[in-house]
Amino acid sequence: MTVQAHIVGWGKYIPERVLTNDDLTHMVDTSDEWIRTRTGIVERHIVAEDESTATMAIEAAHEALEIATLRPTDLNLIIVATATPDHLFPATACLVQDALGATQAACFDLAAGCSGFVYGVGLAADLISTGNYVNALVIGAETLTRITDWDDRATCVLFGDGAGAVILQANGSDGGVLSSVLGADGSGGDLLYLPAGGSRQPASHQTVSEGLHYLKMKGREVFRFAVRAMPAATRLVLEKAGLTVEDLSLIIPHQANYRITDASAKALGISKDKVFSNVDRYGNTSAASIPIALCEAVEQDRIHRDDLVVFVGFGAGLTWAAAAVRWSAPLPTAPLTRRKKIWYALSYRYAALRSLVRRFVRWLVARFTRE
Ligand code: UT7
Repeated sequence: MTVQAHIVGWGKYIPERVLTNDDLTHMVDTSDEWIRTRTGIVERHIVAEDESTATMAIEAAHEALEIATLRPTDLNLIIVATATPDHLFPATACLVQDALGATQAACFDLAAGCSGFVYGVGLAADLISTGNYVNALVIGAETLTRITDWDDRATCVLFGDGAGAVILQANGSDGGVLSSVLGADGSGGDLLYLPAGGSRQPASHQTVSEGLHYLKMKGREVFRFAVRAMPAATRLVLEKAGLTVEDLSLIIPHQANYRITDASAKALGISKDKVFSNVDRYGNTSAASIPIALCEAVEQDRIHRDDLVVFVGFGAGLTWAAAAVRWSAPLPTAPLTRRKKIWYALSYRYAALRSLVRRFVRWLVARFTRE
């Protein structure tokens, strides 16, 4: 029997604070008109001081678990796709695991820029098909505004923060993730990168004073790459699944610029209403953009059972990725009962307590034992 990976849970977290185009006109030499017409962005959300990639990822994971009605201990795998992890190590996925109490899960972060979430879905689906994993949580989460140069008008108007998650589950029935394609062209690495803070240029007073810990982008070249990569990856993933563009119900593309998604729709010969867009309200949230858009597409009744949905992304690396999914989860989802809500709240409290006890025991062992 072949095992397919089906999406059984999804969730998102958007920080509260909104930064509008008008707000940006007080910070750099730009205009609402320029930002809207060149990108489609109207506003974006920004993390609060006490929030981070991990805290947003955890919130999105809570929602996904509750929709899937799974226990955190049912998860065997957690992948966090991000370019803005809480730390270089430990992996943000481990922070998520600890907060959820997902004690049975293998965890790692995935760095594939804005394609990261789709890379994660493709990898998790392949791992599930081996029979070694049953429930995989794939999260895209970013705090891009923490690596944004707020004096650089070419980039600071583009990005926002947020997180989205899905749970993929092994199932013998047809549907779920039908195919995926993951690609890269490292020769374009310098088109979108963070110069300092890694082993090539460790953080120093000089790197900070030169602003080398802010992302740098050659926007026009990334744009040219994107309008080629998105339609090509979409066609390829459909071909791999034995399908064509005519079979498509909805494309959920990486949300970077409405001009890129419109050009992709044109290149594929499909109408714009088959391409989901919410870039106006969130800006570019990198690896988080596709799972956030997926959640909104579900909320807006744009996805139904048996629909063929394609996720397609492109980004730093350069990377690109697409996944074709036959939607199999029943919609609308049943609201959680009061009992279930209490159960989840208690289980997250228990996870926090468990973490505290384990830290305390480690401290005790270190204090009272000698090698
Ligand atoms: O998620 C993956 C990563 N990123 C992307 O997907 C981004 C892909 N690239 C893009 O979306 C577009 O290239 C941008 C939105 C970044 C830029 O749009 P563009 O149409 O390619 O503009 P441009 O870079 O060619 O700049 C056009 C003009 C320039 O002025 P001159 O040289 O023509 O006088 C810029 O200096 O617009 C100027 N400009 C701005 N003007 C007002 C650049 N940024 C701004 C700004 N406000 N914020």
